[in-house]
Amino acid sequence: MPRHVAIIMDGNGRWAKQQGLARMFGHRQGVDTVHKITEHATRLGIEYLTLYAFSTENWNRPKEEVDALMALLVDTIKKETPTLMKNNVKLMTIGGLDRLPEETRRKMEECVEETSVNTGLNLVLALSYSSRWEITRTVQELARRVKDGEIRVQDIDEQTVSDTLTTRGIPDPDLLIRTSGELRISNFLLWQLAYAELYFTPCLWPDFTEEEFDKAIMDYQGRERRFGKTSEQVNKGYRL
Ligand code: IPE
Ligand code: IPE
Ligand code: MG
Repeated sequence: MPRHVAIIMDGNGRWAKQQGLARMFGHRQGVDTVHKITEHATRLGIEYLTLYAFSTENWNRPKEEVDALMALLVDTIKKETPTLMKNNVKLMTIGGLDRLPEETRRKMEECVEETSVNTGLNLVLALSYSSRWEITRTVQELARRVKDGEIRVQDIDEQTVSDTLTTRGIPDPDLLIRTSGELRISNFLLWQLAYAELYFTPCLWPDFTEEEFDKAIMDYQGRERRFGKTSEQVNKGYRL
């Protein structure tokens, strides 16, 4: 079982269009999928589920859509907090939360605080997140520490970088799923996905089901993760 699954939840707009509906219907339906997949991940005993909910670039969408998405976020958090508590899910966020409208940010922070006692699935919401934004502020922070004499340049290693990213403390994703048939990363977790297994499905996010999730997991389980080694090295353990 992968320890950490990350998902680029894509295709809400196209799903709505297919039904002859406005894009927001797709986003609302997408929330139902989030609910289902979070409960399913809990059942499967997955430790971390990271969901790309809103990218830095998504701020460039029409204002009506951005406003409606922020309102949907508040509604969803209000509605879902009891379920998160019931399922022992701990909510975390990554991204530039200071860009969110005041109420959305406050609700989000309250939910993070309330669920912080939970010990089950860690649900990481990427909100106003982009990987280049994250890496840029990491570089700024490390430069500041060097300037202030807190660390030396030669002490900066991969671990230092990992520990300075917004995902500090979270293991790298083992599996990345992207729905809607797009074959790209769209500025998501560029550092952290270095050795993730990638899984793309044409299924649109509102249509994504527990079965689709299981298919991705089974596909992952058939992969050989070599981390640069040879197949023989990786399989040595089995032959002994
Ligand atoms: C993903 O669905 C949700 C967000 C990015 C907020 P989209 O809104 O990108 O849906 P498509 O890609 O237009 O179908
Ligand atoms: C990526 O989806 C961001 C989220 C799922 C939140 P987009 O729909 O914004 O990505 P592009 O624009 O197709 O690359
Ligand atoms: Mg999209």
